[in-house]
Amino acid sequence: MTEPAFGGEVSEYYQRFRRGYPPTVADALATAFGLTRDDVVLDLGCGTGQLTRVLAPRVGAVLGMDPEPAMLDQARKATSLPNVSWLLGADPDIGALTPALGPRRLAAVTVAQALHWMDHAKLFTAARPLLRPGGGVAVVTNGEPLWLQDTAWSAALREVVSSYLGTPVHRTCGTDDASQTRYADALAAAGYAVDAQVVTYDASLTVEEIAGGVFSAMNPSQLPAPEERPAFTERVRAALSPYGPLREQVRVRILTGTR
Ligand SMILES: C[S@@+](CC[C@H](N)C(=O)[O-])C[C@H]1O[C@@H](n2cnc3c(N)ncnc32)[C@H](O)[C@@H]1O
Repeated sequence: MTEPAFGGEVSEYYQRFRRGYPPTVADALATAFGLTRDDVVLDLGCGTGQLTRVLAPRVGAVLGMDPEPAMLDQARKATSLPNVSWLLGADPDIGALTPALGPRRLAAVTVAQALHWMDHAKLFTAARPLLRPGGGVAVVTNGEPLWLQDTAWSAALREVVSSYLGTPVHRTCGTDDASQTRYADALAAAGYAVDAQVVTYDASLTVEEIAGGVFSAMNPSQLPAPEERPAFTERVRAALSPYGPLREQVRVRILTGTR
């Protein structure tokens, strides 16, 4: 899964098949940064709004920012919360929020399943002056990619996806220990007090959800043609059929850097 981008149909698969975050993740962030209804949070790399939606009821306002217009369109269609605004932008753009914030400061900059696309060290430094005291940066992951988990069905899926793409799939999207350590070290180097928590939950998955999850992680140019997608789904079904009900223990990793 090289050169991912999230345009076109990929954004539709993302909205439809990528799961959101349980309320316990919002609880953890609310506790870490003392979030209140007076606060404004920036959810950077918000995609179709998976984390934005669970944060919104906890704070005064959430700004969901993403550089991919198609992801923001999907987010807008899926979410009609009065205190959420969707902004087109990427990590180097966050300083541009300063005039709009005026004397206010953000309570948090959250980056969920997206930091691997960014210059994380520059971002952590650029975020500091935007944050109120006690606020901070949160780096959140939503479990391991479906095809990289330590289960028999995930190994079988890995084979199907690697064979389809013609290359082994191995990108962890920042969910691995080495990436987490790099992010924690960079937060500390930028002057934040670092903490890490894990929230786990069990999820069951259908073959359609797994195939849709795979499509949501592809570059649009890698997607099978529409008429070939049912055959891809059937290949996944056949490969995973020996493994019974498909279950995943999702580990949401929450790395916080408090200012
Ligand atoms: C895997 S999605 C994550 C979406 C959502 N936050 C979630 O937790 O499911 C990654 C998102 O990061 C966005 N992205 C890519 N490069 C970025 C950048 N430089 N700055 C901000 N967001 C970026 C992509 O457009 C995409 O919507």
